[in-house]
Amino acid sequence: MTLFPAVVDAVMHESIIGRAAEKGIVQINCVQIRDFTENKQNQVDDYPYGGGRGCVMMAQPLKSCLDNIMSTTKNLRSRVIYLSPQGRPYTQETAKRLKRDYDHLVLVCGHYEGVDERFIEHCVDEEISLGDFVLTGGEIAAMAVADSVCRLVPGVLSDEECYTGESHWDGLLEYPQYTRPALWEGRRVPEVLINGDHEKVDKWRRKQQLQRTMEKRPDMFSRLELSDEEDLALLRQIKKEAGRMKLTEEVTCRPAAAGDIPVIMDMVAEAKKSLGRFHVDQWQGDYPRENIFRDDISRGECFLLLHGDEPAAFFVLSVMPEPCYDEIKDGKWTAEMPACVLHRSAVAGKYRGSGMAERLMLFVERQARAFGLRCIRTDTHKKNKPMQNLLRQSGYRYRGNVEIDGEPGHDSARQAFEKILKNRCGEK
Ligand SMILES: C[S@@+](CC[C@H](N)C(=O)[O-])C[C@H]1O[C@@H](n2cnc3c(N)ncnc32)[C@H](O)[C@@H]1O
Repeated sequence: MTLFPAVVDAVMHESIIGRAAEKGIVQINCVQIRDFTENKQNQVDDYPYGGGRGCVMMAQPLKSCLDNIMSTTKNLRSRVIYLSPQGRPYTQETAKRLKRDYDHLVLVCGHYEGVDERFIEHCVDEEISLGDFVLTGGEIAAMAVADSVCRLVPGVLSDEECYTGESHWDGLLEYPQYTRPALWEGRRVPEVLINGDHEKVDKWRRKQQLQRTMEKRPDMFSRLELSDEEDLALLRQIKKEAGRMKLTEEVTCRPAAAGDIPVIMDMVAEAKKSLGRFHVDQWQGDYPRENIFRDDISRGECFLLLHGDEPAAFFVLSVMPEPCYDEIKDGKWTAEMPACVLHRSAVAGKYRGSGMAERLMLFVERQARAFGLRCIRTDTHKKNKPMQNLLRQSGYRYRGNVEIDGEPGHDSARQAFEKILKNRCGEK
């Protein structure tokens, strides 16, 4: 029931719902309320009692229009709905209920200041709002209700899964969708979707659903009752990952200054704690102390990584040969060229797992090239698995074992790694 049937008709007879109407799966009739006026001017509205702005739609044309509709649909389970900003906010659950409980919905579109309250009291079964905002008329809201209910009617979409997997069906938002090409504007489709392992795809999608709902709609997420063991495991994984910082700002690198020493020492303290927790006997005494960094800085060999303006990591890259590396056991250095040494590095606790460590390794390489060197050597404790993984991931190769002398009273054995940077022609 509308004052603008042509507008609604045009929209509702297009695309998926239009095709369903053509096939007779659903039927959409737009009825002109004005056709049921009983005055010569075909007037549908009048001034409000009590004064005030605007006009109110009269009860009589509305009631006559409704009676006419009902006279032709006697044996159907009907529901008269007035679209109103005062109604209950519309949700997928409402759409499901309307589809399940009724065969015939009469959607009454108000206009101007609304409709005479007596029509609502007398004839309307329920009021539905599209949201907490005001439209000029009920047509857009009516079309939203009609569209969302009709697509649940069997035969309108190709199969049930088209809507049961979608956002809001089971209290979750849908996973992200991608189509060809696999690489667009430098952005790649997630690898898992390309590999063809359906089990992995399903798991990834479920995780995305949980994660997106948590991030985008915490209100919906708080209403979820999850009991499935797999969901709970995914949730634990998401929460663990959510604790990690996201790199939203540009990451830059500059030589550290003496004024940066306190922030560097904070990162050292955090790294010491973390190594201690994993029983790595590295940096567990008073090494590295402030004076070491002071020397590094004065030689221009200490660098600070910034996330926006915030210090997020540091590294010390020295062009001086490391005497402890002269004697390497169980292997040998392979580069026959001068090397620089990555001595000390750490990522601030809040940036762990954010990709900052990988950025650090890139800046190390950039700095090595700036020093005019193509070989980088470094060492780490045999139990420092995160560092070993990072090194391997960054293209470093294990070359053997060395003994360091900087941490008396602690384990001095270290694994030695080396990376040779490609020259400009791409050769090693
Ligand atoms: C300008 S509104 C009238 C608003 C009314 N005076 C009020 O403040 O509650 C005109 C018509 O638009 C429709 N409408 C406006 N906002 C709506 C919403 N959020 N949801 C559904 N229908 C809405 C209703 O049919 C309403 O009668």
